[in-house]
Amino acid sequence: GRLALGIDIGGTNTKFGVVNHRGEVLEKGHLRTDEYEKIEVFIEALHRAITPLIEKYGSLELFDGIGVGMPNGNYYTGTAEQAPNLPWKGVIPFADLMKDKFGLRCTVTNDANAAALGEMLFGAARGMKDFIMITLGTGVGSGIVANGSLIYGHDGFAGELGHTIVKPGGRKHWSTGSEGSLEAYASATGIAITAKKMRAEFPSSMLNQYPEEAINSKTVFECASKGDSIAIEVFRYTGQKLGEALANFVMFSSPEAILLFGGVIKAGDFILKPAKLHMERNLFPIFRDKVKLVFSELNEADAAILGASALVWEQKKNNR
Ligand code: BGC
Ligand code: NA
Repeated sequence: GRLALGIDIGGTNTKFGVVNHRGEVLEKGHLRTDEYEKIEVFIEALHRAITPLIEKYGSLELFDGIGVGMPNGNYYTGTAEQAPNLPWKGVIPFADLMKDKFGLRCTVTNDANAAALGEMLFGAARGMKDFIMITLGTGVGSGIVANGSLIYGHDGFAGELGHTIVKPGGRKHWSTGSEGSLEAYASATGIAITAKKMRAEFPSSMLNQYPEEAINSKTVFECASKGDSIAIEVFRYTGQKLGEALANFVMFSSPEAILLFGGVIKAGDFILKPAKLHMERNLFPIFRDKVKLVFSELNEADAAILGASALVWEQKKNNR
């Protein structure tokens, strides 16, 4: 059958895979995103890493194209613009650069949109027409599906829910300068900031056993699992901010479900429980006890790879 390349570009890691029509990821690979300051060098490295996979399946002719999900990726223009958590600044003509390098057509979309699409076609959102995917990683992204389609909006940037404000006048975002965004609290980056603040206030916390640079959502999880009440509080506060934001999102588009996805969800109930509590508490009563709040079903890398690769065929369909 025909094949596609799906690529998921994150602030820290980039994952890619060869995907067939049935949504099977046949082959996978990854590289660090944050090691490449120059976009050309990154694309060069991507090409070097992916070429052996293409050769394994015979040749380029078997591939219909490349689908890419990336922070601030724009489906309309094939560019990525001002991504706060990517090393490359300005407007990057990513689809064109990829096409020149690989000789395959390339479709770009927002990373969280790609994950939503993957989940809709192959995962927990199968059969759902209205749902919101929230990705909690280095940044916080979202894909909003309404009436069975992703919302792109006028400029193609719809669904930047990570940059909505959950605490007016709150924590300043390290890159955008906004004050009190969801991303500033609920991303892995935000969790590390919260943890560093809290451990300074509570010297007896287990979190103080790590050097500064080792404080991240993983080490906070380790401490929380061992019963450290400060680490547990870090996640509870994160979950609260997330839940308050989710209530707003629910009232905006009345989804059947909200799917959570990304590295941060490894914290499990430490975040999910307070998120659910504060979502429900802040909902207008007609919305209460209706919206499922669940973790993504697909393995983390796969949802975005699958969604990105599905774009290749989606566009083909539209072009006919
Ligand atoms: C970007 C989004 C992206 C999210 C997750 C945010 O900072 O603005 O476009 O989806 O990070 O990568
Ligand atoms: Na989005």
